[in-house]
Amino acid sequence: MGKDVIIACDFNSKAEVIAFLEKFKDEKPFVKIGMELFYAEGPDIVRTIKGMGHKIFLDLKLHDIPNTVKKAMAVLSGLDVDMCNVHAAGTKGMMQAALEGLTRADGSRPLLIAVTQLTSTSEEVMQQELWIDKPIDETVMHYAKNTMEAGLDGVVCSPLEAGKVHAVCGEKFLTITPGVRFADGDVGDQKRVTTPAKAKELGSDYIVVGRPITQAADPVAAYRRCVEEFVG
Ligand code: C5P
Repeated sequence: MGKDVIIACDFNSKAEVIAFLEKFKDEKPFVKIGMELFYAEGPDIVRTIKGMGHKIFLDLKLHDIPNTVKKAMAVLSGLDVDMCNVHAAGTKGMMQAALEGLTRADGSRPLLIAVTQLTSTSEEVMQQELWIDKPIDETVMHYAKNTMEAGLDGVVCSPLEAGKVHAVCGEKFLTITPGVRFADGDVGDQKRVTTPAKAKELGSDYIVVGRPITQAADPVAAYRRCVEEFVG
């Protein structure tokens, strides 16, 4: 599994995302499509961007009863996405059902990863509101282990957690890591950030980079800088 940079295309219209991707003439970056764009434009946005030659991480974070997730995943697999995700909180049974739904008749399937605890959830809220009576880092590792045991390919986590996830779940278990910023760039609303070079050093498999590329004066140059630092 090669290391790669995934651009978080957090735009809310097809016109904006296409105009952005058309800036790339010599390379076809891996693209993350999130809920906002998918719900605004529907499945056609996936077909269009696939048709332009990009790989797609469809970040819809499914969480429902196993049967519903299985059927929804079969639809996403038919869209030929390359990576998609679920909430590990949906249980191992739900994650296994998701894998079944994703697997095509020829045995191929997109990569399937899980969200452990959202980074927007603090330890305090997790314990007092969700009644999960454990430290948050232990919860994250426990959910990562559940994800591995369900047969999924990896988890979304901070680059700072990538080493521990690999130690617990094995080197082949993928870590997909947002929270990446250039050393000389704006941090924005991200709290714990690392540079692409540091993410590589910490063992991330894929970095997800949004604003440092999408809002750059020269997005192609910013993307190339990420690739150079992270992939080498
Ligand atoms: O613009 P920025 O580089 O902060 O974008 C990061 C992307 O990764 C966004 O699409 C954000 O929703 C996503 N993400 C994140 N932190 C998580 C999970 C997803 O920043 N824990």
